[in-house]
Amino acid sequence: MREGRFDQPAADLARRFSASVEFDRRLARYDIIGSRAHATALAAAKIISADERDKIDNGLREIQNEIDSGKFQWDAALEDVHMNIEAALTKKIGEAGAKLHTARSRNDQVALDLRLYVKDHIGEITTRLKQLQRAFLGVANQHVDLVMPGYTHLQRAQPVYFAHYLLGQVEAFARDVDRLRDCLKRTDVLPLGSGALAGSTIPLDRQLLARELGFASVSENSLDAVSDRDFAAEFLFDLALIGMHLSRLSEDFILWSTSEFGFVEFSDAFSTGSSLMPQKKNPDMAELTRGKTGRLYGNLMSILTTLKGLPSTYNRDLQEDKEALFDSVDTVELALDVWSAMLPEIKINRERMESAARDPLLLATDVAEYLVRKGVAFREAHALVGRLVRRAAELNVSLDNVSPLQMQEISPHFDVDLAQVFNVRRSLEKRIAVGSPSPQNVAARLEHWRKILL
Ligand code: ARG
Repeated sequence: MREGRFDQPAADLARRFSASVEFDRRLARYDIIGSRAHATALAAAKIISADERDKIDNGLREIQNEIDSGKFQWDAALEDVHMNIEAALTKKIGEAGAKLHTARSRNDQVALDLRLYVKDHIGEITTRLKQLQRAFLGVANQHVDLVMPGYTHLQRAQPVYFAHYLLGQVEAFARDVDRLRDCLKRTDVLPLGSGALAGSTIPLDRQLLARELGFASVSENSLDAVSDRDFAAEFLFDLALIGMHLSRLSEDFILWSTSEFGFVEFSDAFSTGSSLMPQKKNPDMAELTRGKTGRLYGNLMSILTTLKGLPSTYNRDLQEDKEALFDSVDTVELALDVWSAMLPEIKINRERMESAARDPLLLATDVAEYLVRKGVAFREAHALVGRLVRRAAELNVSLDNVSPLQMQEISPHFDVDLAQVFNVRRSLEKRIAVGSPSPQNVAARLEHWRKILL
């Protein structure tokens, strides 16, 4: 590439600073697919013969096999994955290999490779998200009737079904699937044929290229196409959000696995011991999931920052998009795999959850609503029940054990029928508005997701 124009070879330091083959060789598969399609388009445009196209095609397939079997010799002096493969091809098949780069630049080439990579991993991650959703459904199916306290501010608030919690997770990950599907629309655009920045005087059939490579559409502006990394930034945002969902899920289960909660127990296979304290069983997989969210956010910041000051079209800064992207993909794929495998093995301590859900204070709001049904304005009812809660504490009895006399001192509306309010399952049965955890709603939503996912 330097022959002709340069007197001196690149400084060793400059080479070390700019070489990317150590990490972008991950794109080899996509680079080869792209080059094979490019050769087809070159042949269709009569720039190369059918025979040359076949030579290129066979040569590239051989190279793919060498890469797969670990025999391929990567050379950092050849800078990046594109030059490595092109050089190997030319060495293998001679003249025809030297024609491959006609009407193409590494600028549209790398944009193509990256889009193919992101498209593939949108698929991979979507599959894994659905796998995790199925794991949630599996646990929910086993515990449809299990009640637990719901929390706000990490304080006991109101009773819910454990299945309602699990279905809430299914909803969050469904939004992630949706976001990825949306990101795919903007990723699924062919940049090849944009050249370095201004296309080429040798026009190729870009529709043909799009068909060969499975793109839904073709980019409409060459300047934009070689510099556009919006799809990568968007994808990294989507991955950061998946990480955030996994992190909050992890936090719930870490808390619930403490002796203080005792709601769940991670299986041995997904727990670690302490090097010092023999009794310990630690939820490290969940903690690591939570911790790795930091790098997902970092990778998003990294690409946004790389992009922000760039002048139009390709600048070498864009090479910095890759490591962030690869790291986030690896991190999210592995974390999703871990959670899908770990979740079904988590022991659910039903009795601990049920007994925590029996706390009558969880039904204080139900008591206020009982007063509302008797005609008391909600604000007033809220204050009355607040007083009832305080009185119960003073008397050192539970909320459902304040005597009728003492209750009526607070409000004449409190009657013997109040006793019926202190029934967790009755309370849940009344929560029938869309989205609320009545048993019917939970069952319907389970059925809804079962139809979609199973
Ligand atoms: N390794 C480069 C990258 O990742 C490929 C494109 C290089 N193009 C160039 N004009 N130097 O972005």
